Amino acid sequence: MKPVKSFIEGMPKAELHLHIEGTLEPELMFELALRNRVHLPFDSPDEARRAYAFSDLQSFLDIYYQGSRVLLHDRDFFDLTWAYLRKAKEQNIRHTEVFFDPQAHTARGVPIGAVIEGIHHALANGERELGISSKLILCFLRDLSAEHAIQTLESALPYRDYVAGVGLDSSERGHPPEKFTKVFGRARDEGFFVVAHAGEEGPPEYVWQALDTLGVSRIDHGVRAIEDAALVERLRAERVPLTVCPLSNVKLRVFDSIHQHNLPELLDADLIVTINSDDPAYFGGYINENFIAVQEAFNLTKRELATLARNSFEASFLAEDQRREVLRELDDLSAL
Ligand code: HPA
Ligand code: ZN
Repeated sequence: MKPVKSFIEGMPKAELHLHIEGTLEPELMFELALRNRVHLPFDSPDEARRAYAFSDLQSFLDIYYQGSRVLLHDRDFFDLTWAYLRKAKEQNIRHTEVFFDPQAHTARGVPIGAVIEGIHHALANGERELGISSKLILCFLRDLSAEHAIQTLESALPYRDYVAGVGLDSSERGHPPEKFTKVFGRARDEGFFVVAHAGEEGPPEYVWQALDTLGVSRIDHGVRAIEDAALVERLRAERVPLTVCPLSNVKLRVFDSIHQHNLPELLDADLIVTINSDDPAYFGGYINENFIAVQEAFNLTKRELATLARNSFEASFLAEDQRREVLRELDDLSAL
């Protein structure tokens, strides 16, 4: 094994951009389809994998929502989340901030309580049995209405103790963040932290809006921010983190290849960049594979890799004492 690969594997990491529905591996999808008598348009897990060739975000979302149809009961959400956490443990993830898309499930008649309780119980087990801390982030689907987002937030309030933040995802083009100003204001008033996908396929203007109208403390993706020098300066000066997902960006054709990815420019601009897996079951890699891909493409040094790992804890909503402890561990690793 190359030493740099084992260095990546050994680094403690926080994952900040991970859709739990996007961790549904085809084998579990088939198991749940059988258990819940849901028809799948594929004959085998391998056939499903072969269908994972995407031309843009929407072509992925169509398959991703279709896969989510096997998730019906709290036990299914538990099994999904537990499978991810076991993988996260293998990859030395110490802290994870997990997105979920309740509207993708309530639209199919699944009660929001089944979704949240299933995920929560697995996260609580993960903390107890695997030592992985976590936060759960409820995402609004931006291609649905602002009113539906408000109803969704209200329906989640009885589970307030299990949800730490809210986010915004799904089809970006034509769905500017400002459409969700009201629900994000409400969420902030309720004490949730707020983040949003912006500048993945959408223009830099959407990143400005996420900051100015939604009041987000972190931008998910944000790679297109580089097109606007004033925006880059704002992100740098205010230390707004970007949760970058390299393999996702290549799979969804935001960049033609990993070599074309703008990670080096984002780092050169002194932005708080983090590396994440987004929807690993669909994009061909978990967090370590994302780190390895950018290390190989850009010949990143161990010091640069450790900075990316440090950033992940700095950008997280982890409690201060836990953050300090893991940062000390990273200091020791980088001193080797
Ligand atoms: N972008 C937007 N919506 C999503 C994504 C993404 O990368 N993954 C799951 N939903
Ligand atoms: Zn995402």
